[in-house]
Amino acid sequence: MTRLLLTLRFLATGFFFICAGDSFGVSRTSAHDIVQLVISALLDLRHRYIRFPPSRHLLDSVKRKFHSMASFPRTIGAVDCTHVRVQYPGGEEGYLYMNRKGYYSKNVQVIAGPDLQIFNIVTRWPGRFHDMTVFNNSRVRHWFESTPMFKDCLLIGDAGYECRPYLLTPLSNPQTPAEVNYNESLIRTRNVVERTFGVLKRRFPILSTGIQCFFFPPALPYPLPSLIFYYY
Ligand SMILES: *[C@@H]1O[C@H](CO)[C@@H](O)[C@H](O)[C@H]1NC(C)=O
Ligand SMILES: *[C@@H]1O[C@H](CO)[C@@H](O)[C@H](O)[C@H]1NC(C)=O
Repeated sequence: MTRLLLTLRFLATGFFFICAGDSFGVSRTSAHDIVQLVISALLDLRHRYIRFPPSRHLLDSVKRKFHSMASFPRTIGAVDCTHVRVQYPGGEEGYLYMNRKGYYSKNVQVIAGPDLQIFNIVTRWPGRFHDMTVFNNSRVRHWFESTPMFKDCLLIGDAGYECRPYLLTPLSNPQTPAEVNYNESLIRTRNVVERTFGVLKRRFPILSTGIQCFFFPPALPYPLPSLIFYYY
């Protein structure tokens, strides 16, 4: 229980290990080991909680929920990216973490459900990479293009995404009443992903203040499978 509390405190406050350790009377090294242990135990559970509803029937109820917001049809998720601040990782590829807004980050892609669930997350991209690059290289794209389960299902994204048959984006210049309605309905429905980021970042301020770990991985992680954070 102490290990779990120490880790939650670290994730909640973004304190350095030394502070998290101090309040639990353990050394900096132990605090580091404990956080690592608990995070990897949590990661082992991720497939149980971070997943699309596993049947057509459940997906249909997601569609109905999305539809009830602003009448947007067939939607099963809202996709967007958010930058999570990280310490400068150094090394030859460290510069790839510098994002357009001028700080070091990872560009994290989330697909949110109607009740702010996280159906899918991709965390392996340094901040320099564009939202569409993350999506293009994600397994989700492949699923939507070739899995029967996702036939007739839609994702919605903002104007940063390229429009696809299964990924709809706002119109840049809506003219007719139908286009204006489409645009408004899409934007209102897509709002769930913004709210998901808001809730997550308030609950775990380390995601806004930055992950200041002294063991941030030096090497570029993107050939590796996607994890929530890279702790090791
Ligand atoms: C995404 O992939 C499509 C082809 O599948 C390509 O045309 C497009 O340029 C790619 N976009 C980015 C930003 O990589
Ligand atoms: C789309 O609709 C929203 C909501 O009415 C509006 O705020 C936005 O400016 C519109 N976008 C464009 C590109 O017209």
